[in-house]
Amino acid sequence: MGKPANAWMGMQKKKWSLMVLALFSLSTAMVFFMRTAFDSCNANTSSSFEEGRDRASELVHSAGRAGSGGPSPLDFMKSKLVLLVSHELSLSGGPLLLMELAFLLRGVGAEVVWITNQKPEEADEVIYSLENKMLDRGVQVFPAKGQKAIDTALKADLVVLNTAVAGKWLDAVLKENVPRVLPKVLWWIHEMRGHYFKVEYVKHLPFVAGAMIDSHTTAEYWKNRTQERLGIKMPDTYVVHLGNSKELMEVAEDSVSRRVLREHVRESLGVRNEDLLFAIINSVSRGKGQDLFLRSFHESLQIIKEKKLQVPSMHAVVVGSDMSKQTKFETELRNFVIEKKIQDRVHFVNKTLTVAPYLAAIDVLVQNSQARGECFGRITIEAMAFQLPVLGTAAGGTMEIVVNGTTGLLHPVGKEGTTSLKNNIVKLATHVERRLTMGKKGYERVKERFLEPHMAQRIALVLREVLQKAKSRTNS
Ligand SMILES: *[C@@H]1O[C@H](CO)[C@@H](O)[C@H](O)[C@H]1NC(C)=O
Ligand SMILES: *[C@@H]1O[C@H](CO)[C@@H](O)[C@H](O)[C@H]1NC(C)=O
Ligand SMILES: *[C@@H]1O[C@H](CO)[C@@H](O)[C@H](O)[C@H]1NC(C)=O
Ligand SMILES: *[C@@H]1O[C@H](CO)[C@@H](O)[C@H](O)[C@H]1NC(C)=O
Repeated sequence: MGKPANAWMGMQKKKWSLMVLALFSLSTAMVFFMRTAFDSCNANTSSSFEEGRDRASELVHSAGRAGSGGPSPLDFMKSKLVLLVSHELSLSGGPLLLMELAFLLRGVGAEVVWITNQKPEEADEVIYSLENKMLDRGVQVFPAKGQKAIDTALKADLVVLNTAVAGKWLDAVLKENVPRVLPKVLWWIHEMRGHYFKVEYVKHLPFVAGAMIDSHTTAEYWKNRTQERLGIKMPDTYVVHLGNSKELMEVAEDSVSRRVLREHVRESLGVRNEDLLFAIINSVSRGKGQDLFLRSFHESLQIIKEKKLQVPSMHAVVVGSDMSKQTKFETELRNFVIEKKIQDRVHFVNKTLTVAPYLAAIDVLVQNSQARGECFGRITIEAMAFQLPVLGTAAGGTMEIVVNGTTGLLHPVGKEGTTSLKNNIVKLATHVERRLTMGKKGYERVKERFLEPHMAQRIALVLREVLQKAKSRTNS
């Protein structure tokens, strides 16, 4: 008798701690603003936070997490020396993704050294805590410059450069040793904006062992741009789609946590349980298309009123507000809401480290990134884990994640897209069954290909090839 009872208690305890964690994050994350130095896709905006948040909360909260046990596709990396070079260290998408790789490699017994190329002069709390997190997990943290860095690069089996900008580190530190290191460099690229195509960053790109990029669209774009703009050729390029963390999946798959979070967030927003809640979860900036979304949302309300459609009361929440950074654009958004008299329908939420509570609370995710879209757009797979349909722009990584008509609906970027988006909002509002089915299909798709083990598997294939190539090139 004792055993099942204990197991049950254990489960309850786990659920309880999950909820506490999530609620804790919800209330404290508000004051924890994301740093914005790195941007994953959009030029000079704080766009990377949506890639980084959940990694961040995972790193912040999962101090003593044990390895998952069982064989890993990365087992062949055991006792290999890997040098990870990060352009900077902050709670944003790029560095956190590299830290995730560092922990995966540590998990299989690789020796991992971390270098941050660009650090602020003054002490930085975030850097301090992230470096400690790495040290706790057995990652060695070295200064970016100096003999120790050079020796490690020369000795390493593999060097991973993270983001295009990290290319600056090569000449600055390795100097005449650059050619000896290039054959074992894997360059992980998450950027997709023009100013990254600078010779000073990427001139060594053709000579590295490989490039790893988050989506096919972004890889294609790099191929074109490097050739057309700089006249250089990309090395062998591997596309590696990202995956959801175990922490996120645990919350997403726990119906009790989901319900508690849903009630809590809805109450805080003044949205009833039966209301229909659409969310756009990105740093507020023009590139992320909050303006066009609000326009579509407003038009959909009008249609519903005109046609007297029977739908629940509809609300929109914009998560990612930052009045200190995007003052002009955000003022524009808020004025629009006032002008159209939809203040009681539209809610703004500050940037937060944790999106899980919002994903638990909403009914539909809108991914409205403009121009070339997202490099990948981790929020999309996170939403799908919560069984949410996605209304996304037909651009960038979104097209590789969302199956149009099955796990969501795609609309064109730009002003032309607002009509489609409006129609899609109405469609999902009026077709409850369709909406729920899309959410389920999205969840199935995540389980099939967008989990951390899937990502590890994809990375393993790349590392294996790069290691082989490095060996043959340095021997010859
Ligand atoms: C973005 O920043 C780069 C330099 O970091 C600058 O050259 C460029 O003009 C900026 N672009 C925008 C749109 O502000
Ligand atoms: C790259 O160039 C090819 C051929 O010139 C074109 O078909 C393709 O659409 C381009 N891709 C991107 C992402 O610009
Ligand atoms: C949101 O951020 C603004 C500053 O941009 C701040 O004044 C406000 O208090 C924050 N709201 C909450 C609920 O934390
Ligand atoms: C998505 O599917 C709808 C029909 O379900 C179609 O009208 C639309 O053109 C499709 N969009 C894309 C980008 O494939």
